[in-house]
Amino acid sequence: MKKVNVAVVGLGFGAEFIPIYQKYDKTDCVAVCRRDAKKLNEAADQFGIEKRYTDYKELLKDPDIDAVHINTQINDHAWMSIEALKAGKHVASTVPMAVTVEECEEIVRLEKETGKVYMMMETSVYTREFLYFKKLYDEGKIGRLQFLRGSHQQNMSLPGWPEYWYGLPPMYYATHALGPLSEILRKPVNTVRCLGSGRINEDYIKRYNSPFAVESMQVTFEGSDVAGEVTRSLFDTIRQYRESFDFYGSQSSFEWEQLVDEGPAFFTGYEDAERLVVPDTNEMLPADIADFSLKHHIVDEHHVSFIQGSGHGGSHPHLVREFITAILEGRKSHVSAAVAANWSVAGILAHESAMQGGKIIEMPAFTQF
Ligand SMILES: NC(=O)c1ccc[n+]([C@@H]2O[C@H](COP(=O)([O-])OP(=O)(O)OC[C@H]3O[C@@H](n4cnc5c(N)ncnc54)[C@H](O)[C@@H]3O)[C@@H](O)[C@H]2O)c1
Repeated sequence: MKKVNVAVVGLGFGAEFIPIYQKYDKTDCVAVCRRDAKKLNEAADQFGIEKRYTDYKELLKDPDIDAVHINTQINDHAWMSIEALKAGKHVASTVPMAVTVEECEEIVRLEKETGKVYMMMETSVYTREFLYFKKLYDEGKIGRLQFLRGSHQQNMSLPGWPEYWYGLPPMYYATHALGPLSEILRKPVNTVRCLGSGRINEDYIKRYNSPFAVESMQVTFEGSDVAGEVTRSLFDTIRQYRESFDFYGSQSSFEWEQLVDEGPAFFTGYEDAERLVVPDTNEMLPADIADFSLKHHIVDEHHVSFIQGSGHGGSHPHLVREFITAILEGRKSHVSAAVAANWSVAGILAHESAMQGGKIIEMPAFTQF
């Protein structure tokens, strides 16, 4: 069987995926791309990769490359995905899909028109915590889901982040907090409303004309009576990093840990509670990439996204497997363009709702998967 030839584009967080594509027996990492030639060569030398591109559009002309995995800054995800689909490549894109509704719609259209695989590489729906909860839910141990809450609180005032982050409306990057809610129901968000709270420093406000320190959205899901709430903060609000879900059921409930490494709480009976030790997910994966779900396999533990993101719950090899399997089976990926658009557009429209004092906004039809 021919291997899928992947190019990894953007080598900060993106570099974490190179060894997975190299180890996986269904893929080769044939090329890497970043703008800075010196840093490009350093990374390519480290991983022994021959083909090196500083110009993404040149990379897209390379007929050897079947798929691109985009890990550039958020404003670039959409145009890079669009160009790649038009060039006949399969696309894996880090979150969010895009920062405008129009770009999301265009990617949904192109996924359909080209028949290529698009996948948003949403880490939060492949974490050990999510996969563990999902198993309990599928086994009937949670009962009927009654309410879903997600939060992603991060203080990006910490130095070291690229410039474009500062002042970003919190809900423009809501997919980590919203994705698990939609995914556990496997239903799309159909309405959003959101309140903004507090005020960040004036210098940051000017950059995106977004004043809020915290945004809190409420969502409804198509064909479900279960509602969800998502909280996001990015600047000038102090809390230890938290990328979490709390799911409440009629038989038992799960709350994400309050402090890092404390363990999630699991509630049963009327008043019973215990701390859970959530198992690794390596046994769910093909042997050659299973170890990448373990914490010690993080390639650059000093990268800021790992200092604050705890290695994304062992999700990376699961994402790679799903993306590649979808290509080989000729089907849509699990986080296809419509799913990605639903989770990304909900955040964009939530910010719009917050700017309008909490107006209820209906989600566009193209986001209904
Ligand atoms: N849990 C997660 O899913 C998760 C975690 C961390 C980061 N991310 C996402 O990954 C993306 C990158 O984050 P990061 O912290 O690595 O950012 P970064 O700024 O450190 O890295 C961006 C990389 O993209 C490259 N790049 C930028 N523009 C390019 C272009 N036009 N052509 C080729 N290369 C280009 C840069 O050279 C750099 O290597 C962000 O969008 C972020 O949202 C997701």
